[in-house]
Amino acid sequence: MKIAILCASDRCSKNECEDKSGPLIKEIMSDMAHTQDYVVVPDEKEKIKNELIRFCDELKVDVVFTTGGTGLAPRDVTPEATKSVIEKEVPGIPEAIRAYSLKITDRAMLSRAVSGTRKSTLIINLPGSPKAVREALEIVKPVLAHAVETLAGNTISCGGNYGK
Ligand code: MTE
Repeated sequence: MKIAILCASDRCSKNECEDKSGPLIKEIMSDMAHTQDYVVVPDEKEKIKNELIRFCDELKVDVVFTTGGTGLAPRDVTPEATKSVIEKEVPGIPEAIRAYSLKITDRAMLSRAVSGTRKSTLIINLPGSPKAVREALEIVKPVLAHAVETLAGNTISCGGNYGK
C-alpha cells in the first residue's frame, strides 16, 4: 500500500514547532504501507487542497492521511479542503473514529474530520495531536487493506470474510 501524509499546521510550517504526528502516522503504518510523500503546510485551504490533489492525481497513492486543522479554531480548514477535492464521502470512517475516541475523551466530538475518495485514493482526516492520531489509527488501520482493495475494484478479496 502506498500512502502520503499531510500535516496542516501554521506553526509547524513556520518551523516554530516540530510535527510529531506525521512521523507517527508513518511509523504506525510502516508494517503495511510505504510513505511516498510527507508535507507540512499552513492552515490554508488552497495549499491543503493543492497537495491533496497532487497526492491523488500525480502520486496516485492508495491512502492520504491528513493530521491537524480539524477542530473549531478560526484557521482550521482541513475538512473544508478535503470536501472540496473528494468525489464520494466515506462517513463511516470519521463516525468510527469519533465513536471510538469518545470512549477516551469527550473532546473527540470537537473534531470535524471527514473522509472520502478521489479517483482511487482514500483521504482520511485525523486530528492533530499524536495521542489522537494513535487512537484514531487503532480503529481505522484494521479496515484499510480491504478499503484499498475495494476502491481498486477488487471485490473478490472479500471472499466471505467480513472481518470482525
Ligand atoms: N480524538 C482522539 N482520539 N483523542 C484526542 O485526544 N482530541 C480532540 C479531538 N479528537 C482528541 C481527539 C481535540 S482536543 C480537538 S480540539 C479535536 O480533535 C481537533 O483537533 P485538531 O484541530 O488538532 O485537528
